[in-house]
Amino acid sequence: MKEDIKEVLFSSDTLSEKVRELAEKISEDYKGKDLVVVGILKGSVIFAAELIKNISIQCEIDFMAVSSYGNSTETSGVVRILKDLDSNIEGKDILIVEDIVDTGTTLKYLLGYLKARKANSIEIVSLLNKPARRKVELDVKYIGFEVPDAFIVGYGIDYAERYRNLPYIGILKPEVYEK
Ligand code: IMP
Ligand code: MG
Repeated sequence: MKEDIKEVLFSSDTLSEKVRELAEKISEDYKGKDLVVVGILKGSVIFAAELIKNISIQCEIDFMAVSSYGNSTETSGVVRILKDLDSNIEGKDILIVEDIVDTGTTLKYLLGYLKARKANSIEIVSLLNKPARRKVELDVKYIGFEVPDAFIVGYGIDYAERYRNLPYIGILKPEVYEK
């Protein structure tokens, strides 16, 4: 796998440190609230696991799976719900955990979808942000790192379902997806 990575952006230690920092801030901000952490499968799974491990207040955990049509390096803009929440979120404080915000289409759609369910609040934490490619306006409350306009993999993030198990985050060599 390593030979397919052009450049390592964030080491495993750097990621852990940032995730601890985010978890501390979240634990502080959500004191006395009814927090439900919602991981978006599958990309956020490693980030979500490390984040909740470091959240020091009471919280529930749930997951959703969404898919944008197509399997290329571009999002199509059409979002499909593959797995919905297990429980009722009415009156709760929802924190959506995402791996990377690119065009913003996926989260914009999800926010609209969840807003109809009368949660007390809905916010987003994304490990990575790729602002250069944003197509829709989106308010992301917590961001780990900004990344350049390149194809990123590792720490849960995939290319065609591969590279999710890399413990670090890096830029994939263009030769890999141009093949
Ligand atoms: P958006 O709807 O364009 O914001 O796309 C968000 C989703 O596209 C993320 O949750 C990722 O699954 C995927 N994605 C966006 N950029 C990358 C990338 O650089 N590498 C891998 N997946 C990406
Ligand atoms: Mg994703």
